[in-house]
Amino acid sequence: MALEQVAGEPSQEERGPEAFLVSLRVNGVVYELEIEPRVTLLDALRERLRLTGAKKGCDHGQCGACTVLVNGRRVNSCLTLAVMHEGDEITTIEGLGTPEELHALQAAFVECDGFQCGYCTPGQICSTIGMLGELRAGAPSHVTADLGSPEIELSDAEIRERMSGNICRCAAYPNILAAIRQYASGDEGHR
Ligand code: FES
Ligand code: FES
Repeated sequence: MALEQVAGEPSQEERGPEAFLVSLRVNGVVYELEIEPRVTLLDALRERLRLTGAKKGCDHGQCGACTVLVNGRRVNSCLTLAVMHEGDEITTIEGLGTPEELHALQAAFVECDGFQCGYCTPGQICSTIGMLGELRAGAPSHVTADLGSPEIELSDAEIRERMSGNICRCAAYPNILAAIRQYASGDEGHR
């Protein structure tokens, strides 16, 4: 049935698409949201769920500040729509650790001074966890020398290449690298 336009009201075209009811599972909690199909996962997390750990840097896939984990894989949440993630397991930085009990990777970032302003840090940390999963799964990168090896060595070059989608405007890169190395080597001293 065609909707009648009320005088002074925006047309359906001007209003945009209608909202959908979507349930999102974030950090183990299920949220029911009525959301337009054009809303990104990043905006749904930040503006609707008030989970502001994932940051909006560029909003078009260039900086990695918005990185979250979807079913264990790292995703730029500014580049994906919330309605696409019903049934997925979404993990944000809020789901990894708490101020009282940091995740071991968060603790490594603190110990190694892996940040300055901290704006990129949630994305760096979520991306690292996804990146290490890719490495364990044997996914090669652009700099992997031996594609036949069953185990890829986590060299500095591998870390730099695999984390190249996460930009740090403070240029804390040497310390980010050190934090990732510390965590990956199991020299955590934490849980
Ligand atoms: S805000 Fe998503 S990549 Fe920059
Ligand atoms: S610590 Fe400031 S942008 Fe990375």
